[in-house]
Amino acid sequence: MDKIEVEGINSLKGNIQISGSKNSSLPILASTLLIDEGIVISNIPNLSDVVFMTKILKSLGSKVNFENSICKIKSNQPINLKISYELVRKMRASFLILGPLLTKYGYAEVSLPGGCAIGTRPVDFHISALEKMGAEFVVEDGYIKGNVKGRLKGCEITLKKISVGATENIIMAATLAEGETIIKNAACEPEISDLSNFLISAGAEIKGHGTSIIKIKGKKKLRGCEFSVMPDRIEAGTFALCVMGCSGNLILENVNDLIGNHLKKILNPLNVLSICKKDNGNKLEIKKTKKFLKNVIFSTKEFPGFPTDLQAQLIASLTKSQGKSVIKENIFENRFMHVSELRRMGANLKQNGSKIIINGVKEIYGAEVMATDLRASSSLIIAGLMASGKTIVNRVYHLDRGYENLEEKLRNCGVKIRRFSE
Ligand code: UD1
Repeated sequence: MDKIEVEGINSLKGNIQISGSKNSSLPILASTLLIDEGIVISNIPNLSDVVFMTKILKSLGSKVNFENSICKIKSNQPINLKISYELVRKMRASFLILGPLLTKYGYAEVSLPGGCAIGTRPVDFHISALEKMGAEFVVEDGYIKGNVKGRLKGCEITLKKISVGATENIIMAATLAEGETIIKNAACEPEISDLSNFLISAGAEIKGHGTSIIKIKGKKKLRGCEFSVMPDRIEAGTFALCVMGCSGNLILENVNDLIGNHLKKILNPLNVLSICKKDNGNKLEIKKTKKFLKNVIFSTKEFPGFPTDLQAQLIASLTKSQGKSVIKENIFENRFMHVSELRRMGANLKQNGSKIIINGVKEIYGAEVMATDLRASSSLIIAGLMASGKTIVNRVYHLDRGYENLEEKLRNCGVKIRRFSE
């Protein structure tokens, strides 16, 4: 198993090319099952989750060519409608196949998802919405088997709680359903808009994406198209938090206006980063200012709030701040696997229910630590950059799920980092 060794650094300096968004690529790839004609999608990051999704598509009969960030896909009549446990156990997003298969082929068998071990992550909203649209489900041998007589029927669906994945599954299912589907309390994440824009370029009729009410009018057929995936706002946020933890000056390239505005909104309250849009918003300059960060109270929220996917990195970047910070996790229970590892590096962190209380310390120290999920892994890299001495991060396959060329990107900014296996 690969490990990463990283040395502490006082200041980062350099340019970083932000990759295409993982959380946008995965539903867009799943949605290619809705379309018979050829599709070309660019700016797709080379990540293990993306490769898994292309394997799932291939196992269903799609022809997929993924090279140099470009995915060319031709979805054929499926050779089967079952996604095996072997393929889905590592990635919860595989559940996004359910909506497309049911609406296009009237049948799907999907193993119940695995994925990051962050609390209980049920799929009940996906199931109950598809049931409301006319699908029938049974669970047998760890698989959920869905059946539709005729076409799915558009209807009004109100999500009990905002869910990114459920919103995406419903949108995809609704594009080929009979009549209109209205999703209320829908997720507003930019990745939902990216999926919607992809489907619109394939001929779907979707309105209101990016707001909490999305309306989709079903079509009989979608057509082939070309599309470029949006940049990854979580990757960009992770690098901004590296600067916050260590200091320095980074230029993030291949971002967009939306990401610049979003990072400013969520990180400006910390008062220690200067975030400046350049080149019409395509670049972002992130600098650590001379100001001192003192007591911070932050809560994770759905978009446009502070993303749960940056919570672990924020905690790591605050470990050496002055004063006391409180971070509350509102989206997932038990998304604090990184906390015990950060403590092993000398961080003073206390858990009180869904809150982590951070008492800043002068120094944290390199140690051998264990990555437990994707974002926990990047928080350990940030802590490694802030620590004195060397840090060795184990189980970096979690990191490879969501960060493309991380070592190379950091190395270009002066970081001593290497991957090795024992
Ligand atoms: C997506 C993102 C993930 C991010 C999360 C929240 C992808 C591939 N992953 O995950 O990176 O952390 O959004 O922004 O885009 N829930 C239920 N029942 C359901 C579905 C969800 O109770 O049927 C709950 C979850 O347990 C969680 C909350 O709803 O507490 C939000 O989860 P959801 O938005 O669905 O997360 P994912 O789509 O899995």
